[in-house]
Amino acid sequence: MLQKIDEAVKWIQNRVPVAPKIGLVLGSGLGVLAEEAEQAHRVPYGKIPHFPVSTVEGHAGQFVFGTFAGKPVAMMQGRFHYYEGYSLEQVTFPIRVMKRLGIDTVLVTNAAGGINPEWEAGDLMLIKDHINFTFQNPLIGHNETELGPRFPDMSEAYNRELRDLAKRMAERLGICLREGVYVGLTGPSYETPAEIRMLRQLGGDAVGMSTVPEVIVAKHMGMRVLGISCISNLAAGILDQPLSHEEVMETAERVKSKFSDLVREIVREL
Ligand code: HPA
Repeated sequence: MLQKIDEAVKWIQNRVPVAPKIGLVLGSGLGVLAEEAEQAHRVPYGKIPHFPVSTVEGHAGQFVFGTFAGKPVAMMQGRFHYYEGYSLEQVTFPIRVMKRLGIDTVLVTNAAGGINPEWEAGDLMLIKDHINFTFQNPLIGHNETELGPRFPDMSEAYNRELRDLAKRMAERLGICLREGVYVGLTGPSYETPAEIRMLRQLGGDAVGMSTVPEVIVAKHMGMRVLGISCISNLAAGILDQPLSHEEVMETAERVKSKFSDLVREIVREL
């Protein structure tokens, strides 16, 4: 694995004159932010050695290296999901590459269903913590000690200082920022109303199909993590209506300027 990562890293370094310090993983419908990168170098995942290729609607599938809010960044426009059939090693491979490119802070975003009954579609949620409801773990198997420890601590997976910063920036911009627990499932079917009632009782505020494996790997490698969910819909059974990927994409489209403003302001202060 180390060799694969370093081949991908070298390949990128030979072509891209940016040494990124901050990584951004842009979730469903939130990829537009990558268009704001200046002096941008776009690298389709498919060109990078050992990278899988993204297939899901709403994900362009490329790295955008450049300057954003005055900082050297690597933005992932599109990510890999377990439900697409990739292994968790593949899903988290870009995080490993980001770390070995020199990135020590990663901002992970996603679209999620709101479980907290007080919230509305279109709200933004700072991820305080997560529940790994995939019953999978990307670290199962041989541990590469050069990458991280066998038993990584997850007691502060989402960095407290970064969360405080995000709250200050939201306040400065007059953006309502919720805070809560993200429950990660494999998908791709949405949850049933009974499952959502259970997840609420277990302490979840939002539910989605990404992020958890990436955050586990980022923590394994000692990165600082910040997570923001766009509540794209209320989870199954909260409203008496079916869920659809179209609704998820429509809400992301609706909140993109609020989302972009917040992320830009956070990155500026990092
Ligand atoms: N459930 C799971 N994943 C999601 C949802 C949802 O309601 N909305 C966006 N991603």
